[in-house]
Amino acid sequence: MSNLTVELTAPNGTKYSQPIGLFINNEWVPGTKGDKITSINPTDESEIASVHAAEPEDVDKAVAAARAAFKGPWRDMATSERGDLMMNLVQLIQKNRELLATIETWDNGKPYSVSLNEDLNEVTNTLKYYAGWADKIQGQVIDTSPAKLAYTIREPIGVCGQIIPWNYPLAMAAWKLGPAIATGNTVVLKAAEQTPLSILVFANLVKEAGFPPGVINILNGRGKVAGAAMALHPGIDKIAFTGSTATGKEIMKMAALTMKNITLETGGKSPLLVFDDADLEQAVKWSHLGIMSNQGQICTATSRILVQEGIYDKFIEAFKKCILETSKVGDPFKDDTYQGPQVTKAQYERVLSYVEAGKKDGATLAMGGEAYKDVGGKGFFVSPTVFTNVTDSMRIFREEVFGPFVVVVSFKTEEEALALANDTTYGLGSAVFTKDVVRAHRIARKIEAGMVWINSSQDCDYRIPFGGVKQSGIGRELGEAGLDAYTNKKAVHVNLGTWL
Ligand code: NAI
Ligand code: MG
Repeated sequence: MSNLTVELTAPNGTKYSQPIGLFINNEWVPGTKGDKITSINPTDESEIASVHAAEPEDVDKAVAAARAAFKGPWRDMATSERGDLMMNLVQLIQKNRELLATIETWDNGKPYSVSLNEDLNEVTNTLKYYAGWADKIQGQVIDTSPAKLAYTIREPIGVCGQIIPWNYPLAMAAWKLGPAIATGNTVVLKAAEQTPLSILVFANLVKEAGFPPGVINILNGRGKVAGAAMALHPGIDKIAFTGSTATGKEIMKMAALTMKNITLETGGKSPLLVFDDADLEQAVKWSHLGIMSNQGQICTATSRILVQEGIYDKFIEAFKKCILETSKVGDPFKDDTYQGPQVTKAQYERVLSYVEAGKKDGATLAMGGEAYKDVGGKGFFVSPTVFTNVTDSMRIFREEVFGPFVVVVSFKTEEEALALANDTTYGLGSAVFTKDVVRAHRIARKIEAGMVWINSSQDCDYRIPFGGVKQSGIGRELGEAGLDAYTNKKAVHVNLGTWL
């Protein structure tokens, strides 16, 4: 299998063996048609490696392997044993965390400290959390009358297709694999074309951890080819997807043909409200983190900042100062870098196109708004960008940009703030800064979003449900709620006395 592995040296000197095949049935196999996806380093635009891309025929093979594993060892395995296997995987990930973080940074462009301390922790914490659930999945006995014993069994859904994005490659894999595996499903997971590498090294750890063949199958492949084949596949019982709202709708349509169970986690244009009485310094720091961390490539990024008019000017001044002091753009392998490159040329161009849209619509470019060329002259770097004098009809107020790009708008009253906040087709994250606890909780109820952060932003937690309303998605991931997405409740009726 040597032609399915390449020896690589990462920019930080790490040498390792990079698998490039498809991981099906715990084995590395080539794609059937020889199509390859080339992974690009967004920092200097160089090619890192090319990996095999799955065709529909390869998806068929992966689904067959997952089905055999589901019917074979997996569904009926003792639940604690499943949890133990997941813990083995957690330990192997912990042992390899520097390597995995290195690959993540090389391929995605996020700062190494973020890959290591945020993404890899998210991966191990999430998998550990769901490993703990594996032997705590319980049905109910429901009392009706002495003539009936009724109980429920929480069954796995079956073979789950999981399609993940490029902004948190390993963390999104963990969010999806954790609850699926803990509840006894088997999986075919497809990584994003932009970040195909880290998940393949992860796949080797799946095998090393002792998972039976076919339980976790990992493919790279093009969305419209392999992703669509998964959404359409009659042998797949459920699709879980994270990515754009447009693609989520396509997947929902395709999944409808075989009436698959779905969970979708899609786009957002999440509002962050700052009231006159807020702790201004904290509001500024969280607002910065809420849009500028991870290069602004976060589905829940608080990309619309709404500030009450009494502190609007002060806020803008402090926010710009905070960006200048904190958002150091640079090589993601350098310790002092806060913001690396956008993941691809397409995303970089997308962000810059929104700068043009903002200017054309008459908003004021208060900061940034251009390519950042001081990192060796290459790479997909964008200066942190702030627009003011934005109105609710402008595209930059309404559309997801997915970059270090934020609009700041002023409001007069709480009613106006809520109207602006809810004036969107999305409903993923939201944040409110105020010292008035009554107002904070009142807004938490009225805001149309799946998540509300009071006096913070992006403060997610693997123990707490995550997901959206409106066009930000369907269903929940993480927490106990994440288990619901991967189990069916079977009702068993036992007749104890209704004699005909
Ligand atoms: P995308 O939604 O097209 O891609 C996400 C995943 O879906 C990838 O694995 C891709 O291969 C797969 N996919 C694409 N088309 C498919 C299809 N027809 N059938 C099945 N699977 C398919 O997102 P893309 O093009 O990478 O990014 C575009 C925009 O989407 C971003 O600018 C951002 O606004 C949003 N996005 C949101 C994310 C989130 O976390 N909610 C993550 C990534 C992108
Ligand atoms: Mg890349």
